[in-house]
Amino acid sequence: MTLPNTVRIVEVGARDGLQNEPGELPTRVKLELIERLGEAGLPAIEATAFVSPKWIPQMADHTEVLEGIRRKPGVSYPVLTPNLRGFEAALAAGATEVAIFGAASEAFSKKNINCSIAESLERFAKVAEAARAANVRVRGYVSCVVGCPYEGDIAPESVARVAQALRDLGCYEVSLGDTIGVGTPRKTQSMIEACARHVPIAQLAGHYHDTYGQALANIYASLELGMATFDASVAGLGGCPYAAGASGNVATEDVVYLLHGLGIQTGIDLDRLAETGRWISDVLGRASSSKVGRALAAQSNKAQHAA
Ligand code: HMG
Ligand code: MG
Repeated sequence: MTLPNTVRIVEVGARDGLQNEPGELPTRVKLELIERLGEAGLPAIEATAFVSPKWIPQMADHTEVLEGIRRKPGVSYPVLTPNLRGFEAALAAGATEVAIFGAASEAFSKKNINCSIAESLERFAKVAEAARAANVRVRGYVSCVVGCPYEGDIAPESVARVAQALRDLGCYEVSLGDTIGVGTPRKTQSMIEACARHVPIAQLAGHYHDTYGQALANIYASLELGMATFDASVAGLGGCPYAAGASGNVATEDVVYLLHGLGIQTGIDLDRLAETGRWISDVLGRASSSKVGRALAAQSNKAQHAA
């Protein structure tokens, strides 16, 4: 089995990572995080979410964040837009890429965006049409691709149906979200295989939360099928407000270490990334969830003492 030579990482720490953070994190911290991630070589940095501040208070400064980014050439800064209202606000703030986010589970769709899967697709169709007219790229998400906190196991075909619907709406890529991190490699592969019967694997991405510590194994299993785009969150920041107990995405540092160890190129400077992980963990006053980040920090402390 040949693995891809190059992998694209979509950094979701500033959105998925921070959305559940209690307390109001200053906009300037979010902007510094985005800037540092750009300097570390991340090619795509999900910046914020144009969702209701009543639902997700931490993303209430979405306009200030998107307008405040000092954009690096070649880097994309997608933002979440659940409906036309969110899209219009994002466009006014300068969005050139947005993400629509649906679910393979009816119960999760209702809890997360307050509508059924069918209703969500109607809303997304309006966003996709407006985005096409404005020349804005659209990425799609499917949540609960292996399991749902309310419905339990999710059939791969249910995921494939939503993935295909998103692609049919014009999404250039569909990111498959294991929202509660319950996937294991075989289950993850079955789910991807079902999706790949409808959407080319080159247009599928893996978005794995690491709640059960399976995310890296699932990434490896996905690489074996030829998947070459993964979402990750620096320092493993995050959790989902509508999936109790969910932990963050797989840590970007850990994914990059794995990929570089496999000889797969990412264009990311691991040391700068790890430094960013240390910085944001310090700002938030907690230990990084990245094992690689912690190991590199211990190594650099040792080197400093020896000097
Ligand atoms: P709703 O209550 O059904 O919508 O919410 P509504 O149209 O009835 O409006 C209710 C209120 O929200 C109104 O304000 C609207 O103006 C306002 P009020 O009159 O009560 O003051 N509103 C908005 N405000 C700002 N921006 C908007 C907007 N739309 C309406 N775009 C809605 C529907 C989708 C807005 C709401 O359910 C919502 O914001 N949900 C967001 C949930 C969310 O962000 N979840 C986390 C991200 S998804 C995720 O983490 C999973 C992912 O990482 C993949 C994975 O891991 O699986 C992507
Ligand atoms: Mg997520």
